[in-house]
Amino acid sequence: MALTITTQAGDALAASADALILPVYAGEGVGALDGAERFDGQLAPMLESSGFTGKAGQVVAVPTFGKLAARTLVLAGLGARDGDDPNLRGESLRRAYGGAVKRARDEGARTVAAMLPDGAEAEAISAATEGLTLALYRFARYKSVSDGEPAKEVGALELWSSDAVAEGAVAHGQAIAEGVALARDLVNTISNDKTPPQIAEWAQRVARESGLPCEVLDERALESGGYNSILAVGKGSAAPPRLIEMVYEPRSGGATKTVALVGKTITFDSGGLDLKTQDGMYSMKTDMGGGAAVLGAMRAIALVKPNVRVIGILTAAENMPSGTAMRPSDVVTALNGKTFEIGNTDAEGRMVLADAVTHAARAGADEIIDLATLTGAKMVALGSVAVAVMGNDEGLISRFLMAAGNAGERVWQLPMWDEYREQLKSDIADLKSTGGRGGGAITAGMFIGEFVEGKPWIHLDIAGSAATDRDSAYTPKGATGVMVRSLVRYVEEAGANT
Ligand code: BES
Ligand code: MN
Ligand code: ZN
Repeated sequence: MALTITTQAGDALAASADALILPVYAGEGVGALDGAERFDGQLAPMLESSGFTGKAGQVVAVPTFGKLAARTLVLAGLGARDGDDPNLRGESLRRAYGGAVKRARDEGARTVAAMLPDGAEAEAISAATEGLTLALYRFARYKSVSDGEPAKEVGALELWSSDAVAEGAVAHGQAIAEGVALARDLVNTISNDKTPPQIAEWAQRVARESGLPCEVLDERALESGGYNSILAVGKGSAAPPRLIEMVYEPRSGGATKTVALVGKTITFDSGGLDLKTQDGMYSMKTDMGGGAAVLGAMRAIALVKPNVRVIGILTAAENMPSGTAMRPSDVVTALNGKTFEIGNTDAEGRMVLADAVTHAARAGADEIIDLATLTGAKMVALGSVAVAVMGNDEGLISRFLMAAGNAGERVWQLPMWDEYREQLKSDIADLKSTGGRGGGAITAGMFIGEFVEGKPWIHLDIAGSAATDRDSAYTPKGATGVMVRSLVRYVEEAGANT
């Protein structure tokens, strides 16, 4: 069922939805709600006994016994007023509204009214909308039989505020959430249903619906173009590789900058001849999380219409072992003419990205941002909480870190000092694709940097962050859609500064 969102100005206590969500700052109580004419002074003691103080993440559901039009009152703790982490803007709102709307759903509510915090500005309204929408995300493509009980689902949301709610801010939040949900759908889909040619069709469908031109290089075009590094990765699979490119042009035509977003789209990573273990392989349908974030971001960008030209590139291949697969120790001549020796066939992400970033540079990108579920080493360094960023341009890195914080996502910089370059030396070619265990996330990033033709570039290693095995406030178990929000925010901020 599709979720509809409407806005209402006025007193949310009059809302006649099944459930009403009210935000509460820590220690500030529920004020007028507890007045004699509403709950006869019984709400405060009830909340106290339940331990609800408005602390961030706390949610309580209370039956209203006819004192309000809504059947259930859901109180959502926002934490201290002004207590939001400045490096994670809007996050207390996303989490509070996300947690609250799931509680409302669990209580059986089909329509939910949510009151916005007093004086909420556009950014806060967008964040609350994102939390409400993303928390309700579900992936049911492969469920044919219901689990017994009729599915509990929220079909309509009303956003209430004492003043008129800025519709544009709600639409912005919905656009972001739609992009994130698309990325989640792509990552959650099984590899059987998303071979590189199928990913290309999916991307073309999204591009068409978004009004973006989209071009696909098939295996013949990749061959005649010299994309040997992408082709080498795809050689072991029955499904041939694809390079997918779509372009967003701002309406005004006044854009001064072109940003390329380039996503690793390995539709399944078995490791190739350097085969992964059973444990290591099981989750590898998520190895296209970079490309999924690019497609999700392009969808949202087409809706929010920033003033920057954006090229979205997905470099899609399946990494399989077979009689035609690439071998460790093979030498490949990449699109830009550099040669490298394959150190390990499981280091395939950097190979598809090598040709894709060269392609981006030649397509006229002023800045290149690549994203990839690239290394286990990144997971050792930062776990799944933060995404790693590195690159060749400190200005671009710091602008991206700022945008990510403003979008409420955790990103942390790793160094790319020259000393690490030693590790990528080969005895027989210009480079080796692997740099050994130490600093593995850095040398992997550095390898990609060899192919950007001198353009300002950053690399985001999202390994371990593209999917999660735990439910959290607005991110159910499974694909997360990580970095869609940061990419869109980065592009919006770049457009505002030109
Ligand atoms: N897709 C993996 C990295 C990965 C591992 C992502 C676990 C998410 C969860 C990547 O292609 C890979 O296999 N990397 C190797 C590189 C090594 C062979 C140099 C790794 O990190 O072990
Ligand atoms: Mn691999
Ligand atoms: Zn991989």
